[in-house]
Amino acid sequence: MKLSINSLAGRQASSLLTRSIARSSVPAVRRNLFAQAARRFNSTSSEAPKSKPIQSSISLAAIAGVALVGGASYYFLSDETKAAALSKVTAETATYEDYQKVYNAIAQKLIDEDEYDDGSYAPILIRLAWHSSGTYSASAHNGGSNAASMRFKPESAHGANAGLEHARNFLESIQKQFPWISTGDLWTLAGVTAIQEMSGPTIEWRSGRVDGSEKACTPDGRLPDASQGQDHIRKIFYTMGFNDQEIVALIGAHAVGRCHTDRSGFDGPWTFSPTVFTNDFYKLLLNEKWEERNWDGPKQYEDVSTKSLMMLPSDYALIQDKQFKKYVEKYAKDCDLFFKDFATVFQKLLELGVDFKPGSTPYKFKTLDAQGE
Ligand code: HEM
Repeated sequence: MKLSINSLAGRQASSLLTRSIARSSVPAVRRNLFAQAARRFNSTSSEAPKSKPIQSSISLAAIAGVALVGGASYYFLSDETKAAALSKVTAETATYEDYQKVYNAIAQKLIDEDEYDDGSYAPILIRLAWHSSGTYSASAHNGGSNAASMRFKPESAHGANAGLEHARNFLESIQKQFPWISTGDLWTLAGVTAIQEMSGPTIEWRSGRVDGSEKACTPDGRLPDASQGQDHIRKIFYTMGFNDQEIVALIGAHAVGRCHTDRSGFDGPWTFSPTVFTNDFYKLLLNEKWEERNWDGPKQYEDVSTKSLMMLPSDYALIQDKQFKKYVEKYAKDCDLFFKDFATVFQKLLELGVDFKPGSTPYKFKTLDAQGE
């Protein structure tokens, strides 16, 4: 029988399993889970491997060039370049199926490249999608994911974005495979893919972002500072247009991934299952005892019982503040409610500041697992 971690029971089982595992073995376990997902996919699906890209803009000029140099040299081109040259897809004509192919390519690459961090690039893809979108200012009417301005300095060099080159580099080959997709669309779609492939909720996603120039770079300081508390969090997220419930739902993404001393200066994962999307962030925040970590680094909290998990001061503020805590309690109790609210608010985040064409349809992508069933 196949174990699907997409079901609630599966999520709880996987969460329980990983909950009981000691600090040192977490990375290996997560790698195994991701590899299991890969095996499940490979043994059941014929869809994704076939989803080699069919692309656009190199198009006829490239084919003509190839023909001129001589038929033989055509064989020295990669399959990807040939497919790109033959494709007629553009951002204007791309269909749901075209975007599902991009989703599949990202999801497959997540499975193939399982040596990174806890076994997956998925958490850092979520962080890339969030940091490219979270620069939005409702009052200044600029920022957000539309222009993919993090491709340029100074935005790529803002302290909050340290380490995100790993995510941008990971997606470079996907961009080559699908040259018709804008970078803003690719980064946000990658965030959606990452959440869904880690057994998170289905996130509705729309295309329509258009790459801009470095003029679109936003001023430093629009993203939150983890060393601060509730006033700062509210100031930053209210600027984007979120309310308290939405803020708490969004930060639940800290169920996955980890902090890195060479990036933010903070250290460690928030949960025992950093590559499975769960409501464990809230459960642990509420139910574990947290104390300040005694170390040569910025102030952060560690769980008293295993000393293997962490909370940022900004995470801890969610239980210090009464209004925020109310939602932490709700989401800790009810994973389905968290998934529902997170899906809505993450879509809202990714759409901040984007001028979609009137009537543009949100897409729901199928996970690799679902396509294999
Ligand atoms: C008060 C708000 C927030 C603060 C202060 C904050 C801060 C941080 C910090 C310091 C890191 C560690 C970076 C590193 O060292 O690699 C991090 C990682 C992460 N954040 Fe947040 N964050 C916030 C909100 C969010 C939101 C809204 C999302 C998504 C919806 C998110 C998703 C993530 C993910 C997935 C990671 C893990 C990345 C990895 O594993 O490389 N965060 N965050």
